[in-house]
Amino acid sequence: MSRRALLQAGAGLLLTAALPPFAGRAAQSSDYRIAAAPARARLAGAARPETGVWTYNGSVPGSLVRLRQGEPVRLTVDNRIDQDTTVHWHGIRLPNSMDGVPGLTQPPIKPGETFVYEFTPPDAGTFWYHPHSNSLEQLGRGLAGAVIVEEREAVAVDRDLLWFLADWRLTGDGGIAPRFGNRMEAAMSGRVGNTVTLNGRVSEAEPARAGERVRLRLVNGSLARIMALRFEGHRPVIVAVDGQPCDAHEPERGRILLGPAMRVDVMIDMQGEPGRRYGVIDDFYDGLAYRLTEIAYDERPPLRPHPLDASLDLPRNPLPEPDLATAERHELKLQGGMMSGMMMGGGGMQGEGMMHGMMGMGGGPAWSINGLSMTGDGHAGMEPALTFQRGRSIVLTLRNETAWWHPMHFHGHSMRVLSRTGVAVPHRQWQDTVLMAPKDVVEVAFVADNPGDWMLHCHVIDHQMTGLMTVLRVA
Ligand code: C2O
Ligand code: CU
Ligand code: CU
Repeated sequence: MSRRALLQAGAGLLLTAALPPFAGRAAQSSDYRIAAAPARARLAGAARPETGVWTYNGSVPGSLVRLRQGEPVRLTVDNRIDQDTTVHWHGIRLPNSMDGVPGLTQPPIKPGETFVYEFTPPDAGTFWYHPHSNSLEQLGRGLAGAVIVEEREAVAVDRDLLWFLADWRLTGDGGIAPRFGNRMEAAMSGRVGNTVTLNGRVSEAEPARAGERVRLRLVNGSLARIMALRFEGHRPVIVAVDGQPCDAHEPERGRILLGPAMRVDVMIDMQGEPGRRYGVIDDFYDGLAYRLTEIAYDERPPLRPHPLDASLDLPRNPLPEPDLATAERHELKLQGGMMSGMMMGGGGMQGEGMMHGMMGMGGGPAWSINGLSMTGDGHAGMEPALTFQRGRSIVLTLRNETAWWHPMHFHGHSMRVLSRTGVAVPHRQWQDTVLMAPKDVVEVAFVADNPGDWMLHCHVIDHQMTGLMTVLRVA
């Protein structure tokens, strides 16, 4: 049976049925309208009060944007919140003017105004979108959604599922805790919340059928929470990281590590017993493990006697391969945070930044990259720390000299992860967000082929806002 025939035998139908409807899609299939606007959401179940949230098209997560690889799209964003915003299409290799960084790549979208984003996604995979303006508050109040770029040929699975994970800090009466930008937190692990939602609600159970193969797209849309997911009784196989297909492999020690902004696609053959439930546990923080959800099998007999006999590999995306022999080498040193001495002030600061709410304790930035602290979300006049000639292969060594974890994200490019603390990384996967443990040294490589000024920053948003950000120029 060919791949096509197999899909027509039923999987194709399920694939479309399993994903939430994509609101906002106009008559022309490549035309979207997305309104950033306040709404109310029941995040934690019927027994708990509703929460006032900020949404894309009325829901959290925002409406799913489903694109096709290599086909142009036009997304019109209406700003209906009462402050400036922008939309950043995280992980999509697009023209710099469409990257959504205020001041650096576009003027902010003022309340009541619109901005049209137009690009052609070169890569199939799992991406997401979020504001890049007052990001700590805007993302923290719910502005975020997934972008799925479909492969040119459908992948053989029974169901294609998305788990958009988000972390909220809720008060007793269901509100979102105010006071974004607490300086003490910003110098530590950032604003980690107290409620984790799966597709916009605290999840008790996610249905499954024995014998099916599921492609599960995991997105960590949190401000700061790092996750390490374990699927009891199952063996998920990682097939893509940050949207980019990789060699199919099982996660190290069975834990899928997901830093903020990271995506991991796994294939799971549902080999559990009909009628049983299996926990999905996040045990990243010591002593703070919790049950994210349960996989709940229905009573039906297995869909097929043996796991699906189709390849797990996804088709590769057209990424330019860096030439390591001739690559230019550069180093970026991450410094600062609590326990570093930088908290007492000092450190060069560039741009006006957003420092309100973070005064006290020295008042200056909390973090730096190569001795310089760019703060806020992006603004005019950010000078690039490094300039690359277009087309050059680059090897970057990121040195985390801090005592904290950092998911380091680079706009406009994907980076091949070569090594960690001197040890070659087995699958050399492509990533746009690389999670660094304290004191980690990570070597990444890429071809600087996308012209423009691109941000590189930590995706723990409090860290970004307080200095863990820089700009790299491709000339
Ligand atoms: Cu996900 Cu600079 O962004
Ligand atoms: Cu990005
Ligand atoms: Cu960080």
